[in-house]
Amino acid sequence: MKTCLVTGGLGFIGTNFIKYIAAHRKDIAITNVDSVTYAANPCNIDEKSTPHYKFYKVDIANNDELGDVFRENKIDYVVNFAAESHVDRSILNPSLFVKTNIEGTLNLLKLSLEYKIEKFLQISTDEVYGSLGEDGLFTEITPLSPRSPYSASKASADMLVMSFFHTFGLPVLITRCSNNYGPYQFPEKLIPLTIINALTGKDIPLYGDGKNIRDWIYVADHIRGVLDVLEQGRFGEIYNIGGCGEMQNIDIISLILKKLNKPLSLIKYVKDRAGHDRRYAMDFSKITKELGFTPELNLNDGLDSTISWYLENEDWWKKIISGDYRNYYKTMYEMR
Ligand code: NAD
Ligand code: TYD
Repeated sequence: MKTCLVTGGLGFIGTNFIKYIAAHRKDIAITNVDSVTYAANPCNIDEKSTPHYKFYKVDIANNDELGDVFRENKIDYVVNFAAESHVDRSILNPSLFVKTNIEGTLNLLKLSLEYKIEKFLQISTDEVYGSLGEDGLFTEITPLSPRSPYSASKASADMLVMSFFHTFGLPVLITRCSNNYGPYQFPEKLIPLTIINALTGKDIPLYGDGKNIRDWIYVADHIRGVLDVLEQGRFGEIYNIGGCGEMQNIDIISLILKKLNKPLSLIKYVKDRAGHDRRYAMDFSKITKELGFTPELNLNDGLDSTISWYLENEDWWKKIISGDYRNYYKTMYEMR
């Protein structure tokens, strides 16, 4: 059995990853390190019913505490999901993004080298490539051109990861994925925010002209891609993961409202995000050719599945929107 240190495993994608491994991979034990920020939900993973699972409440930016985790466990793989992940928050507080996304990743790299782990997988994002116009796709050799503090911190982390490969021979891999959606996503992000605001009769804030484009991928597809890279990827390589799900923000919000039978009048145009990237779109032919990965769920079916999850799990999101999230929402939207 291999032990995989997952960081950020109480957040959106990390939770889905751990649940997938627990259900399908009896040969992988999980050690989850999460500092439990606002984006984490400790109830997501039930420790007692999850086999071969250990949890540590540790900040990856705290090298001493992180060192204890490596000392106490024989780690084979590291999969680094932990991050401050929201662009809007990075505009409010860039320093936190440097601390977690860059310093935290550096700590993990140093400890992975010291403890001679077998594989280090950095979970990155298409946002490191910057912004596209109407045409073109990001490939793995597109120059990095991050434009928000969030994407700049992720690009910096990617560069540190590659430097540990070239300088120290650490067996690293990087995945860069497009916008995820699905169960357990925190309601600050566009799709869950739209679903929850629609269900609670609140306006849906649409930034700028609403014509920015994202490539949406269902989280389960991302996780299959991550596992493919972890198990078969070539060290020192970057793999784009895309969803074949390009859509303008106005269209995706309208589609969700239609599916929920709610009026389009809920859409409220608000002041644009500073430095708002216009379009992301992925060429992921490398992972398809090398590892056989393609996304399975199209956007329409993925949205149906996501909407059903939020309808069936009201308790999960009602707790969130009744807490600190309210203050965040006021700060972010009431002055807009
Ligand atoms: P999320 O914000 O939902 O979860 C992040 C998790 O990391 C939380 O559980 C949080 O508590 C934890 N965390 C934050 N700071 C930490 C620290 N200092 N130490 C330990 N744990 C810490 O994020 P997500 O959407 O699940 O994204 C996971 C990863 O995937 C991130 O690295 C993100 O950059 C990347 N990614 C996300 C998307 C997307 O669309 N969500 C797309 C591509 C890549
Ligand atoms: P988001 O979910 O924050 O992901 P990212 O910025 O990492 O792509 O936003 C997706 C898109 O939706 C982005 O173009 C910004 C836009 N958006 C809105 O129009 N209104 C909102 O309230 C939010 C959160 C995002």
